[in-house]
Amino acid sequence: MGKNYKRTLVTCALPYANGPVHIGHLAGVYVPADIYVRYLRMRGEEVLYVCGSDEHGVPITIKARQQGCTPQDIVDKYHKIIDESFKGLGINFDIYGRTSSKVHEKNASEFFKKLYDDGKFITKESEQYYDPEAKTFLADRYIVGTCPKCGAEGAYGDQCEKCGSTLSPEELINPKSKLSGAEPIKKKTTHWYLPLQDYEQWLREWILEGHKEWRSNVYGQVKSWLDGGLQPRAVTRDLDWGVPVPVEGAEGKVLYVWFDAPIGYISNTQELLPNDWEKWWKSEDTKLVHFIGKDNIVFHCIVFPAMLKAYGDGYILPENVPANEFLNLEGDKISTSRGWAVWAHEYLQDFPGKQDVLRYVLTANAPETKDNDFSWKDFQARNNSELVAIFGNFVNRAVVLTHKYFGGKVPAAGELLDVDRETLAQIPLLKASLEKNIEGYHFREALKDAMSIARVGNKYISDTEPWKVAKTDMARTATILNVSLQICADLGIAFEPFTPFSAEKLRTMLGSPLDWALLGQSDILKEGHQLGQAELLFSKIEDAEIQVQLDKLDAIRKEREEAAKAEAAKQVAPQKELCTFEQFEAMDIRTATVLEAERVPKTDKLLKLTIDTGIDKRTIVSGIAEYYTPEQMVGKQICILANLAPRTIRGIESKGMILMARQGDGKMRFITPEEALANGAQIG
Ligand code: 2FM
Ligand code: ZN
Repeated sequence: MGKNYKRTLVTCALPYANGPVHIGHLAGVYVPADIYVRYLRMRGEEVLYVCGSDEHGVPITIKARQQGCTPQDIVDKYHKIIDESFKGLGINFDIYGRTSSKVHEKNASEFFKKLYDDGKFITKESEQYYDPEAKTFLADRYIVGTCPKCGAEGAYGDQCEKCGSTLSPEELINPKSKLSGAEPIKKKTTHWYLPLQDYEQWLREWILEGHKEWRSNVYGQVKSWLDGGLQPRAVTRDLDWGVPVPVEGAEGKVLYVWFDAPIGYISNTQELLPNDWEKWWKSEDTKLVHFIGKDNIVFHCIVFPAMLKAYGDGYILPENVPANEFLNLEGDKISTSRGWAVWAHEYLQDFPGKQDVLRYVLTANAPETKDNDFSWKDFQARNNSELVAIFGNFVNRAVVLTHKYFGGKVPAAGELLDVDRETLAQIPLLKASLEKNIEGYHFREALKDAMSIARVGNKYISDTEPWKVAKTDMARTATILNVSLQICADLGIAFEPFTPFSAEKLRTMLGSPLDWALLGQSDILKEGHQLGQAELLFSKIEDAEIQVQLDKLDAIRKEREEAAKAEAAKQVAPQKELCTFEQFEAMDIRTATVLEAERVPKTDKLLKLTIDTGIDKRTIVSGIAEYYTPEQMVGKQICILANLAPRTIRGIESKGMILMARQGDGKMRFITPEEALANGAQIG
């Protein structure tokens, strides 16, 4: 750190415009970045805050196909939703651009062209999957098949969503094109690659030697990539959605989404400041900080820096990349494609005016060092027992009592007692800790510091009991309320980065300033200053509101289970090895009728059936109790394998086997002739 910078450029990972943003995105990237930016701004620093939609990439083209519209339609739709969600949550970027913009297309194209002209790329011919029916190369995501690791159907060519394994299309069993269903073939194609290995030594020195202070998850990931040896990385793709590769002979090719997206940070800055953008990207006085999630680390710490280094021309590198781990939802991985998420835009509709509660909970529980879980019960508890019961309650008591006893005017502080001095003395210590924590990207801890100020105030007013003191000593009551109101004013400053809506409401109520330098001073509000009306900062969230959210998730879970079952039901076991006609003939398969049926005691699955085979009456023990009750079986005509060697099951001799059809999901049904036949009719 150490270095004195003049300004800070904060970038947030550009969210893919193939779905709305959810709480995982917010907790991982946008809320922490917003805290950081608000904090710096409050301290008077010059900050530029850049983000935008990432509008290229295969998932967007897949979604467009699924919905029968164009990729542009998809990104137009989600860009708007995402942009509005951020604004609704008080996350106000200086620019929220888009990678489908003209400025970006030109900038990304020129960036590639310069690297190309400077000979920074190598080309490689490789064999890639091609759909012979749709006549197009297939991105890994466009190939689906059976996962070689867990056997799940519908695994993608790059990943199995069921077991989470990273895959390559070659590994898929029974690969099929998602476009036409055809079996893909291999076809030669040429692409441009950035030889990352040429930058390995430089990356080692810059990060492993020079940035030991980076978060251990980030540093560790970079180290393991570098220790594993870097390989040339393809920067182009055969696809019809993206920035066209601007060189001859590259028809039908576009820049790889991970090549163009980070350039989007620069393009968006250019769009906002066409004449002044270079000061943000090419000055050693600018501190660049990338806020991202852990799946983006390699791109921001290895690939993009190598691109900038290759480009030269004075581009700066990030001073830090505070990547977060992942947030889960009620114990399950959040997933856009599976619909398992709490969406920002829906939250804003369901909890109007409660933007700060979400910001607060996502920060208090931020996945800074390890994956964490969001649960609605925890959300409710943190609102009711922290924001309402501590922060809100303290402020409300101080303001209401000031109105009650002093007409809403800040009363004069008399001589301070030890309890007053000791209380006030804690604020500057908490302020110092808060500063250190935010500047070190420890936002959870920083929030604890801010909350400790509220706890200090709440304890002070509970211990000093001004409502009781007022019966006998108005001068002392005045001092207590003066001290309490100063702490309220501290909260109006300290909470600005975390819960900006409530902090502003509080400052309006108090008529207090937003000035970091004043935080911790014991005379922010002067004697005689008129307060506004008391208003509640936070309100209780009732069980019923939480139940609505839990029901929503339950519905998603059920829908998912049904879909998985339907999918499994369709799965067909591969054909068994060939058998001879003689082997088939050896099997004596016949019609028979169930005469009696009873459960085999102490088992869940077994029924003991008495069968009329036409030849004899015999006992067969069958594992069908999960699917049929004894009553359902009696009188049914079925098919049996009559000459199966007898077996003793649970002490009962079973002679033969009931023929059952078993579906992919395990569901079984017996086989019955199309019309009733005599028992003992041979099948074959
Ligand atoms: O992981 C993602 O959501 C990517 N769209 C992030 C891109 S960040 C940047 F490089 F643009
Ligand atoms: Zn799998």
